[in-house]
Amino acid sequence: QIDGIRESGLVNIAVLDYVAENIHAGMSTEDIDRLVAEKTKELGGIAAPLNYEGFPKSCCTSINEVVCHGIPSEEEILEEGDIINVDCTTILDGYYADASRMFIIGKTTPQKEKLVRVAKECLEVGMEAARPFGFVGDIGHAVEKHAKKNGFSVVRDLCGHGVGVEFHEEPDVEHFGKRGTGMLIVPGMTFTIEPMINMGTYEVFVDEADGWTVCTDDGLPSAQWENMILITETGNEILTY
Ligand code: MF3
Ligand code: CO
Ligand code: CO
Repeated sequence: QIDGIRESGLVNIAVLDYVAENIHAGMSTEDIDRLVAEKTKELGGIAAPLNYEGFPKSCCTSINEVVCHGIPSEEEILEEGDIINVDCTTILDGYYADASRMFIIGKTTPQKEKLVRVAKECLEVGMEAARPFGFVGDIGHAVEKHAKKNGFSVVRDLCGHGVGVEFHEEPDVEHFGKRGTGMLIVPGMTFTIEPMINMGTYEVFVDEADGWTVCTDDGLPSAQWENMILITETGNEILTY
């Protein structure tokens, strides 16, 4: 299973790299969706989001105050200064890989730039805390500490998750919490860490019109990075680098 998940991770990375090479101001989020669908297919994979619990597109595109699960649309055009998360989940030979990255469109404000950087650092400190025979709460603790130190908040309503044989498995990987709590981490586990970091309040709501788009309550920006990792005997291996 781990070999299969690792292979799926390689396709997932290639898809995100393809988005990175082609994303630019003036394109629509539907254009991004097309890139993801095309590249995934070309590499023999399936984009997991399409039709997942009714989700209508092949990836999630979440701009500025959209926290996650933004739905690609022909009407939504990338503008200079936007920050956007593109979240791709790949199925290859039945195995799932899940990762997302932020992209800054042209030049943005120093505050948004900092948010994107700190969110990435939050993922990094979370990955460092994911050790064999530690606890899932160690990860949340590390992420929350780093976000708070930088004056930002951590979304509490959504979390990372086990992944590999299915899209979402146990355990829930919360991005806040206490050291030494939650599930024991053991070698062979594969899960995501995907902190959503907000400039203002951690509170979010789901857009009632589409039932998916998660937005910050205060309309301030949010940033997220996601990796899928494998716990090894000595630490962890990033399966989506
Ligand atoms: N990729 C998201 C995650 O990190 C889940 C998206 S569900 C979808 O867990 F249906 F919106 F694609
Ligand atoms: Co995920
Ligand atoms: Co994801």
